Amino acid sequence: MRILITSALPYANGSVHLGHLAGCYLPADIYFKFKKYLLKEDAIHICGTDEHGVPITIEAEKRKISPSELVKQYHDEIKDTFEKIGVEFTHFSGTARPIHHRLAQEFFLNIYNKGYIKKKEEQTLYCESCKRFLPDRYVEGECPHCGSPGAKGDQCEICGRWLDPASLLSPRCKICGGTPIKKDTFHYYFLLPDLEKKLYDWLSKKDYWKPNVLNYALSWIKEGLRARSITRDMEWGVPVPLEEAKGKVLYVWFDAPIGYISSTKEWAEKIGKPDLWKEYWMNEKVKMVHFIGKDNIVFHAIIWPAMLMADGNYILPDNIPANEYLNMGGGKMSTSRGVAMWVRDYIDKYHPDYLRFGLSLILPETKDSEFSYDEWIQNVNNYLANNFGNLVQRIITFLQKHFSGRVPDRKDPTELENRLLETIKQTKRNYVEFMNNFKFRDALKSAINLSSEANRYIDFAKPWDKIKKSRENAGSVLSYSIAVINSLRVLFYPFIPFSCKKLGKILKQDDLDINILDNPFIDGTQIEKPEILFRKIEEVEVMEKQRQEKKQFVSFKEFSKMDLRVGEIKSAEKVPGTDKLVKIFVNMGNSEKTIVAGIGDVYEVSELIGKKIVVILNLEPRKIKGILSEGMLLAAEVDGKPVLLVPEQDVPPGSIVK
Ligand code: MSP
Ligand code: ZN
Repeated sequence: MRILITSALPYANGSVHLGHLAGCYLPADIYFKFKKYLLKEDAIHICGTDEHGVPITIEAEKRKISPSELVKQYHDEIKDTFEKIGVEFTHFSGTARPIHHRLAQEFFLNIYNKGYIKKKEEQTLYCESCKRFLPDRYVEGECPHCGSPGAKGDQCEICGRWLDPASLLSPRCKICGGTPIKKDTFHYYFLLPDLEKKLYDWLSKKDYWKPNVLNYALSWIKEGLRARSITRDMEWGVPVPLEEAKGKVLYVWFDAPIGYISSTKEWAEKIGKPDLWKEYWMNEKVKMVHFIGKDNIVFHAIIWPAMLMADGNYILPDNIPANEYLNMGGGKMSTSRGVAMWVRDYIDKYHPDYLRFGLSLILPETKDSEFSYDEWIQNVNNYLANNFGNLVQRIITFLQKHFSGRVPDRKDPTELENRLLETIKQTKRNYVEFMNNFKFRDALKSAINLSSEANRYIDFAKPWDKIKKSRENAGSVLSYSIAVINSLRVLFYPFIPFSCKKLGKILKQDDLDINILDNPFIDGTQIEKPEILFRKIEEVEVMEKQRQEKKQFVSFKEFSKMDLRVGEIKSAEKVPGTDKLVKIFVNMGNSEKTIVAGIGDVYEVSELIGKKIVVILNLEPRKIKGILSEGMLLAAEVDGKPVLLVPEQDVPPGSIVK
């Protein structure tokens, strides 16, 4: 089966946070890996950055750089983050590219010519002090539907409604805070009511969708669809391809989903099969699945299908398994709210699979979920390190020790082993069913349960006892245990791909076919020396801390290189032309040294003479204001001012300090 998987195009105005990952990219990647590697279906995963719209221009203005510089920077960073966290795309494009502009313009013209777009004279918000129209997020006000303050010109995040900027109550300009006026302009409207019936018929056949997605989409239709403006008075974006529309661009939500097509097209060109994209987009047998977070539902379940229906050349989505929100501190994790944990910061410190695993267990599949650092640590420690990690560790170590790493032959299954094999079979059935239905949490839990089952089996079968009496019997237990581990390698792969690849290397297995579970035995294989697959988070943290502290430690040897001694100040004078510098001569016992010190604003020259101080003598001499300073005196710093260190008793000049 051919499957076209897309993930929402992330705005190129900020970094990737855990909310993006849990809401959209991780589930998409899990599904893609499952379809492509485990089921061996012809699946592609398409994405790219969303590089237009007000989210981009506002951020660029804030940083005083051009929108194109901003999107270039974030495109590269976002792509790199996805790579590091193991989210795999068949192609990752960007909507500012010419191939996308061309396709979006063609798309617009086609449905314009078919009569689905109409020009409309209207009044829209304009800020006189900024001398600009205020589309979308350039304006804020009260939501006309739910009355929440802080609704943006295009959407109210509280009730989720898609708004027209001109409908906001008490609008304010986001740039200067002023009250905008209404000014004459014209825009192009997408005639959604003309497609309402078709949309409704199509949606009513989607009874297999997640109820929240379907109900939300249907409620839109029940309210009655209105024509929507799909152009904006802005410079940055896809120019409207009509002579009369100079200075207008397509609304970002009109051009962005077309990015799914242009990205597929770009991929086909890149691999030298320029028509291959049509095999997906123009093939009724292909199932298209859009992964998104819930704030994108209306655009993917109503507007985009309507666009596709109006156009008529392409397939419609088969499913839109939208997720709810991943929250932090009780609210949506979000770039614009400024509440987020960045994936980039995380991967500097921890293994990517730890984050993937922790998030997979709390994917907001049916309701919002809350990210908690402590819960994440617990989950990784309990399930990954203790359960699965421990299983692998003890079996492979035992195998190395008693069978020099060669997987022994098995004997006919005991009752215990028959039950284990039955559990593998059952797990496979459940897992596939869950995965196909976007229940990734349940799929992962079924794999974890199998891992617990395997641990219990080993606790009962006790190979460490058996080995004392019968090598063959102990060997057989290992064969069965390795078979479960090999099954888990496949089942866990979509969730923790890096570790499963590593495990595959140890077991000398690289195929990930789900049917391996029908016969998971690898008797006779000479396996590689084990490596620790998972460490507990505390261990990772302690290791990281030690690594950092090591950098700051000074060895005793290094310390003892310093020649610290007591000296007595013989004379002192201010360095002319400076406020703080004092030149002092210090009797060091056998020698006299000149030192320039920054203590003149705190100590009078006269009170310095006769003082015993601590000096580091073998500091590299340095010229300060033309005077060669041959050492440095030690002082405590209190409120930024020096306080000289003096011996607590009278000591002869030249005494060693250590
Ligand atoms: N550019 C649009 C999507 C265009 S698709 C043609 C967009 N970008 S985004 O960067 O703001 O978000 C990317 C995806 O992450 C969206 O699907 C969004 O719903 C999802 N999420 C962003 N924050 C999220 C959470 N805190 N929780 C769940 N999903 C989240 O929207
Ligand atoms: Zn203004």
